[in-house]
Amino acid sequence: IHTEGIVIAIDGPSGSGKSSTSRGVATAKALRYLDTGAMYRALTWWMLQRGIDVSDPTAVAGAATTPTITMGTDPAAPTVHVDGTDVAQAIRSQEVTANVSAVASVPAVRERLVALQREMITEAREHTSGIVVEGRDITTVVAPDAQVKLFLTASQEARAHRRSAEVHSEDVAGTQEALALRDRLDSSRALSPLTQTAEATELDSTGLTLEEVIALVAGLAEEARAAA
Ligand code: DC
Repeated sequence: IHTEGIVIAIDGPSGSGKSSTSRGVATAKALRYLDTGAMYRALTWWMLQRGIDVSDPTAVAGAATTPTITMGTDPAAPTVHVDGTDVAQAIRSQEVTANVSAVASVPAVRERLVALQREMITEAREHTSGIVVEGRDITTVVAPDAQVKLFLTASQEARAHRRSAEVHSEDVAGTQEALALRDRLDSSRALSPLTQTAEATELDSTGLTLEEVIALVAGLAEEARAAA
């Protein structure tokens, strides 16, 4: 008997602990892992390299399907390649971070990346024990049929502290401001904004350690697998 892999969809704002949680759960439960934000970042990096004006939606749409984006889904060593170049480090730069919301708001970009994400999810469903997918529109648009749907939150202060530690910055207030701006852009765009729906379970990680959050989500994954 062939059992289908499970899909765990995790949405939430930047700094909510999505990536650490998703990777941790995928590792603990031997699932694949897909960071969809890295795909938007990879496309943004490539456009900036090419000198494409990312504030011009027509220019962005025209280039949206040009580069090849390849994601490695091993949670122990996730990879991102654009036309064969390893961009794992480069996509975390401040320049990419500051411009990714503009790129991610262009319909042609979302259409292409969502299609790619769905292909990868189908592949994982059919050939592996399952996949943890994190982003902003996974529970609502990319995989509304996921067995586990979570909306991960944390107070803006907690998120700013975590993000500052991640990027080794002392400027927590500045980080909090940048986070708030990106939240606003990601939540107010016309197409697939970050939205919390009743279908997704809210998990507030403010007072929890990463280990506690991973254990909670791993428990939900276990229940989903038992029910499948
Ligand atoms: O999770 P992150 O900070 O790496 O995401 C980078 C940007 O990509 C974020 O500003 C919003 C966008 N994004 C999106 O629009 N849809 C997704 N599924 C994931 C990320």
